[in-house]
Amino acid sequence: MADIGIGANAQRVDGREKVMGKPLYGADRLPARTVFAAPVAATVGRARITALDTAAAERVKGVLAVFTYRNMDRLKKVDFSFAGGQAIQSHLPMQAPEVLYRGECIALSVAETPEAAREAASLVRATYDEQPFAVEMTAAGGTEVVQAKATPWFPDFVKGDPVPLIDAAPVSVDAVYYSAAQHHNPMEMLSTVAEWREGGLVVHEGTQAAQAMKMGLVIALGLPEDKVRVISPYIGGAFGQRGAISPHTILAAVAARRVGRPVKLTVPRAQIFHATSFRAATEHRIRIGADRDGRFVGGLHLVRSQTSRFDLMPYTGEETTSRTYGWPAFRGATTLVQLDTQTPGFMRAPMEMASFFALESAVDELAEKLAMDPVELRILNDAKTDPISGKPFSSRNLVRCLQRGAERFGWSQRKRAPRSMQLSDGTLVGWGVAAGAYPAYITPAIARIRMHADGRVELSVGAHEMGQGIRSAIAAVAEEELGVPAGRLRLLIGDTIVPPQHVTSGATGAATVSIPIAKASLRLRQTLAELAVKGGRTVFAGVDPTMTRLRGGRLHLPSGESVSVADIFAGARVHHADAEASGTAPGMSPDSFKQAALGKVAFFGPEFPTHVSFSYIAHFVEVRVDPLVPRARVTRMVSVADCGRVLSRRTAESQLLGGLVWGIGSALSEASEVDPRFGGFLNNNIAEYQIPVNADVRSLEVELLDTPDLMFSEIGAKGVGEVACVGAAGAIANAIYHATGKRVRTLPVRIETLL
Ligand code: MOS
Repeated sequence: MADIGIGANAQRVDGREKVMGKPLYGADRLPARTVFAAPVAATVGRARITALDTAAAERVKGVLAVFTYRNMDRLKKVDFSFAGGQAIQSHLPMQAPEVLYRGECIALSVAETPEAAREAASLVRATYDEQPFAVEMTAAGGTEVVQAKATPWFPDFVKGDPVPLIDAAPVSVDAVYYSAAQHHNPMEMLSTVAEWREGGLVVHEGTQAAQAMKMGLVIALGLPEDKVRVISPYIGGAFGQRGAISPHTILAAVAARRVGRPVKLTVPRAQIFHATSFRAATEHRIRIGADRDGRFVGGLHLVRSQTSRFDLMPYTGEETTSRTYGWPAFRGATTLVQLDTQTPGFMRAPMEMASFFALESAVDELAEKLAMDPVELRILNDAKTDPISGKPFSSRNLVRCLQRGAERFGWSQRKRAPRSMQLSDGTLVGWGVAAGAYPAYITPAIARIRMHADGRVELSVGAHEMGQGIRSAIAAVAEEELGVPAGRLRLLIGDTIVPPQHVTSGATGAATVSIPIAKASLRLRQTLAELAVKGGRTVFAGVDPTMTRLRGGRLHLPSGESVSVADIFAGARVHHADAEASGTAPGMSPDSFKQAALGKVAFFGPEFPTHVSFSYIAHFVEVRVDPLVPRARVTRMVSVADCGRVLSRRTAESQLLGGLVWGIGSALSEASEVDPRFGGFLNNNIAEYQIPVNADVRSLEVELLDTPDLMFSEIGAKGVGEVACVGAAGAIANAIYHATGKRVRTLPVRIETLL
């Protein structure tokens, strides 16, 4: 393993400053004269406001304004990000007396102190004319929409007709699986500091999508593009929740303009559950038919997923299930169910978490019927080429992940029958396995590099650091390509002064930005070689830049010749050298950079013109279940991932570990309880929304195969963050079945389910 550059196990570049509490998160910046805003949430499921009393709120000492739909500016609509816009949802609160869902913001107080703002907010009184609403997919009142008809750009995934093949198969499963809605509960609150300077707007906020936030503000407030800047150097947790502009950001910007002071708006912890997106509740019917040897003859994956009344949040999880096994025939299709909530969105492995709980549970059920080892069944049915397009995979090492994981876990010691691995005290032990996959995407990014004579390097690129470690991955690439130690690298990301800041999501971050960084670095080495020639070093004339290497402040040739960068600059009489490059994916249209500049999403993959690309993982899990109080505990997880080339080992492994923890949460505790009486979600706080704590997380082991996928990109790195938790919940549920003999098809699996 290298000790510097790509693949090294270097420390996080921001680790030290983070543990010292030094980085300033978006809303840690308080410009002089900042005032504070507090939102008021609707307490009804759907209604028309008939009276709003703000008099008492306005009388609170220090209150500057109380905004409601009556006095709020009329704003232009920003479209939903997955309908060609920039917003987390198209509906903007406080524009009309209608309340479309519980928790919608109906008023915003602004005051000299946060306390005064909160007190004022608590005194706003609304009277409602309540209307019927629906918040449960399983109850009446939802409106079903066939996704492929309503939004044909999210098609079904079809190869032949699997149904007659499954009907005729000697062995088959047909089961329905459910997953609960979930909410992100990040450490950093949703908060905005909006500041107007010389007619322009500067917004400080932790976001994964600075460009979308900027353009959303440009559209909503009707501002010129050059008058808005969004700055997001760090994010204290995101994973989909901050992938587009949320209503509170727009409201904060308007409030700041109206009161003529910078405004800080922090969404209270309990309002997070209704203020922005969440993971939709889903339902999956899975049918698999197999021959007597276990070979799949067909697969069916029918999804119902919730969305809002005003946006069609896509569900595309069948894209991955359809491409994971060598299905001779397959059909995957989605029905969206419109309910009276805010628009659901993306949350770590947004579609794949639930899809692979369903698929991998069904595969386990099939293995049971076939009396086959579930690892063997998966290996037997591994896809050799993409079943949907017929194209080859750029690389695919799922079988190696399964084999390596089985070896490391000690899978061969497993007794096949359920309930057969009890401990002497009666504790039930279960071992489960599941595979996971996640599409590999590339998004538009431009890297700009300036190297100074003293070796300092400034690098800017479109990227957002949400704790996943993208700064460390970028530093590893820069060290490899430019020989610059992390301490001499100044990195500018998450700031719209260096566009395009395309959304960092879908595990595109490091895998995407490393492409233009490597390309720009190559151009920089070419420039250095040319400058060296200019300064009289003729040995550098006409060299192929790919053969050069920058190490220790010197440009090296394979022949052993080298020259210091300082000498190059002195000889050519320059102070610095610049290089710029854009990273593209095969098949990416030049238009995608325009899209990205407009703050719109421009994902390429997983199907490219000549190949199909995914990241893969295999999870092996041990659970223990107390037979008296049947609480399942995950005692051991071993997961092996194939994410192409590893850029930063420390942060990639860390992403895998985090993904497993999310898997434990999804499998055993995390559920946003729907409230059919008042709408919205009931357990809207982190006391009652159960996130795994240390006691829930025992032994986790992760391994990366580190096999570069050079067909996917020149760098060969694919995404890590999302695939980490794909299949984890399935493996846990399968282990619970193995421990208890009870097949649970609903997430999360709780004590009452196992009683
Ligand atoms: Mo991700 S859930 O696309 O940040």
